[in-house]
Amino acid sequence: MLKETLLNAVQAGGAQMQHYFNGMFTISSKSNINDLVTEADYASEKAIIETIQKEYPDHFILSEETGEVKSASEYKWIIDPIDGTINFANGIPICCVSIGLEKAGEIIMGAVYNPFMNELFVAEKGMGAMLNNQKIKVSTKTNVGNSCLVTGFPYTYIDVENGPLEIFSTLIKKAIPVRRLGSAAIDLCWVAAGRFDGYFEHHLQAWDSAAGFLMVMEAGGKVTDFAGKDYSVYQKQIIATNGLIHEELIGIVNGKEII
Ligand code: IPD
Ligand code: CA
Ligand code: CA
Repeated sequence: MLKETLLNAVQAGGAQMQHYFNGMFTISSKSNINDLVTEADYASEKAIIETIQKEYPDHFILSEETGEVKSASEYKWIIDPIDGTINFANGIPICCVSIGLEKAGEIIMGAVYNPFMNELFVAEKGMGAMLNNQKIKVSTKTNVGNSCLVTGFPYTYIDVENGPLEIFSTLIKKAIPVRRLGSAAIDLCWVAAGRFDGYFEHHLQAWDSAAGFLMVMEAGGKVTDFAGKDYSVYQKQIIATNGLIHEELIGIVNGKEII
């Protein structure tokens, strides 16, 4: 039942994305001029929350545009109604709905749906990760040197030691491919599917990673913070890999030279 509701909810959000894509919709700014929210984000969020609340009116909701709908329930739905809003607003079909379901503090299910590529990723704790009903696995690369990586940059640049551009520069100077898709949830799912060997980002929110985190774990990968500690969706830093390049990538993210 929970899974059925999860799938109905991502599809309801995806239908709204398709309705507005490449059409007319209002766009406004949030924290700065390029941190956008569109009419489609609100419509997707409304459709998702209505779908969940029809079945589970007393569950806790944490959703990007609405914030928290608090309750005493041990279940919490963590929702990004459109992950990759800038792509969406520009007609770039790399964007998705992402929903993670937490039970008593643990993510137990997640779904990420990109309606434009017809890709539905679903993970269940202990049951594996699937792309369109086919089991997926992380890649088998063993070195960062021949890996294909992905990263993302925050809306407000964080000027710190080993910041996003410094790490990007370290990798690019060694000719290691680092992609930047613009959707953290898709980045994580593509690590789970073995398309990327690793992903790192400095500043995520719970709704960006709740579903994708479980996807990578259930596909046999590893997800931690930059210190190598177990990942929590409530802190900012993330490294997600196939497991085999994890330690090496942690070193690089912490400023280690690549020899
Ligand atoms: C953003 C995307 C992007 C990441 C940003 C997120 P949004 O989410 O996931 O890839 O780099 O940190 O905020 O705003 O498109 O939902
Ligand atoms: Ca997001
Ligand atoms: Ca969003």
